[in-house]
Parts: sequence; C-alpha cells; structure tokens
Amino acid sequence: MNRDVAGLRLGLFGFNCSSGRTYATLPESWDASWENNLALAQRADELGLDCLIPIARWKGYGGDSNPNGSSFESIAWACGLLAATRSVDVFCTVHVPLHHPLVAAKQMATADHIGRGRLGVNIVCGWNEDEFRMFGVEKQEHDARYAQGDEWWSIVKRVWAGEDRFDHEGVHYTLRRVEGAPRPYAGRPLRMMNAGSSPAGRAFAIRHSDMHFDAIDIPEASIDRIAETKRLARERGRDIEVWTPVGIVCRRTQREADDYVRHVVDHVDLGAIGYLAEMKTKDGHSATDPQGRQLRSPIERRALARGSYCVIGDADAVARELARLSSAGVDGVAINFVDYLAELPFFAAEVLPRLEALGLRA
Ligand SMILES: Cc1cc2nc3c(=O)[nH]c(=O)nc-3n(C[C@H](O)[C@H](O)[C@H](O)COP(=O)(O)O)c2cc1C
Repeated sequence: MNRDVAGLRLGLFGFNCSSGRTYATLPESWDASWENNLALAQRADELGLDCLIPIARWKGYGGDSNPNGSSFESIAWACGLLAATRSVDVFCTVHVPLHHPLVAAKQMATADHIGRGRLGVNIVCGWNEDEFRMFGVEKQEHDARYAQGDEWWSIVKRVWAGEDRFDHEGVHYTLRRVEGAPRPYAGRPLRMMNAGSSPAGRAFAIRHSDMHFDAIDIPEASIDRIAETKRLARERGRDIEVWTPVGIVCRRTQREADDYVRHVVDHVDLGAIGYLAEMKTKDGHSATDPQGRQLRSPIERRALARGSYCVIGDADAVARELARLSSAGVDGVAINFVDYLAELPFFAAEVLPRLEALGLRA
C-alpha cells in the first residue's frame, strides 16, 4: 500500500470465505477455492489495489446457503498470497480470545517475512457467540473484550520491538521470560486495523490502530464522526485512517445493476440473515450509529454485503459514490463483489480510470 499517495485506497474483502459477504442462494455465489483466491489476489496485485482483507470465521451462518461455511484460516491464507504477489498488502485477522499472543506474534512475523513487510493485522476483540461456544471459550462482557485486546496487543508489540526475556503480569496473561525472534520484516511493526463499531471498539482503534473501519449509513451524516476519530488519534500523537466496507454491483447501465440486485434479493437467504441478526441482538451493545444501522439496513444491503454500505450502478454512478465517501473523510474502502473474479475486471476497466480522472487514484 503506497501510504504517500492521498486519495481513496481500495481493498478486497472477505473472499477467503465461501459466499464472501453475500447472503443469498445464487448459483454464482463466490466459490472460495484456493485457485480462485490466488487468481483474484494476483489480479488485484497487477491492478495496483492496496490490500486484501480476509474474514476470520470458524463456522457458517446457516440458512440454505450457509455463508462462510468454508473459509481459509487467515494467517495461513496470507502466507500463501504473500508468496504469490509482489506489492499488494495482505491482512490476516486474529481473534484475541482464541489466539495466544506469543503464538500469533511469531506466526505473523513469519508471514511478514514471506511478504517482505506486506502483512497487516485485523484485531478482532468482538464476539460471534456461536464460534466461541464451539471453542469452549467463556463469553466476556462486551467492553472487557477490548481490555483484553489492549493487553494482547501490548504483549505482541513488545515481542515485535525485540524486547528480550521480559515478564508480563496482567489480568489475562502471566508470561515469564518472553522472547520471540524474528521481529517482523525490517523490524517494522505491522499495520493494524480494527473494525469495532461500538464506542469501546472505536476507542480501541483510536488508541492503537492505523485503520478504523467505521459503519457508514449516510456518508454526509458520518463526516463529523470520521473527523473526530482522526482528531482524537492525532491528540494521542497518532495518525489513523478511516475505512468502510462496501458492497459493489457495477454494470454497463444503472438498469442492469438494479436488475442484478433484484435477482440477488429474489434469492436472499433469510435463514442466514436471521441467524446473524439474532447473534448481534443477543450480543446487545451500543453501536457508534445510535439508530442501529445493522438492524434497519435495507434487505438489498443485507443480501449483498451483510448490511454494509452498497454502491449499485453504472461506472459513472459507482465512481461518484466512491468520491462521495472520500469527501466524507473515508480514506479507504474494502470491497466485496458477489462473484469477485467475474466482476473485478469490469470495475477495473471502467471505474479505476474514472477514479483517476477524479484525482482519487494515482
Ligand atoms: C471490515 C470488517 C472486518 C471484520 N472482520 C471480522 C472478522 O474477520 N472476524 C470477526 O469475527 N469479526 C469481524 N468483524 C467484526 C468486528 O471486528 C467487530 O467485532 C464487530 O463489528 C462488533 O463490533 P464491537 O466489538 O465494537 O461491538 C469485522 C468487521 C468489519 C467492518
């Protein structure tokens, strides 16, 4: 990722998982085979996209299509892709309560050497209750998860800083004579992102992250919050980028795009969507968007991108909407398509030049 160039950064999101971010019973649902993952990553690399972001998911969401029922483990996935690409950054995603910090620190340092400094990490402190029950890990109160995240990340950073044989006595970890060479490639710590949408999640990102993923409903209504995130980080002497996940359907005409979205909605997997909504409700906590974006997001957003912001239209409309997000202060978008490999070429041929013309891409 070229951090010297301003504009809108672009990543691909969720393609290590079957069905990606789409909750529908479609024949063209994303087949997350290794061959498809590799081909997509190499295409993104050739196109100069900025990063690839997986989803760490340990079981499917049920319903008729069981979205994410098959998924590649993200650190192993990142190793394979880093070895097969040249310039794109590849993220892994770690669940704090499931990954011991010393194991994770070494795995990530290893992957970062494979990629010569191109690994990033998405730290997930949050909770998919069904997964944690599967692991037999006790559920913690919502905000306490981020306190564990603070401790986890401080340990990883000390290892990566090359501190030798230190002891750590904390609430969650008691560690003796810790060592963990090698450090990440060239001794540089990894870029870290967090996507917590609650106040506690956002505060964690402001304290520690290079990127915060915010949940955006109306870009203009998010301007103040995005600016505040950056200001609060700056006050701590840090720079933070604000990103958001975006589902894109881009076709030759607006009508074609709308027709395709109707086709997706006709096949929406209400069983899987209902299961996800139930888990989120049970996890009850306040979100940065007080109106509860997830629960009231329209069905097409939930079918196409799990409730994330969606951009649907011809290439002009898609470029315009991406520019609108950028104007609201968004630094980058993590994109999902329904069928990534089939849809990326048209997006690249038609939308990337428009973003260049708008001065949003070099
Ligand atoms: C871009 C993005 C990536 C995410 N990746 C994962 C993931 O891989 N695994 C996961 O369990 N949760 C993932 N999440 C969920 C968040 O990390 C977070 O747990 C969730 O939004 C709940 O927020 P909260 O912990 O602040 O309540 C992701 C969310 C976003 C927006």
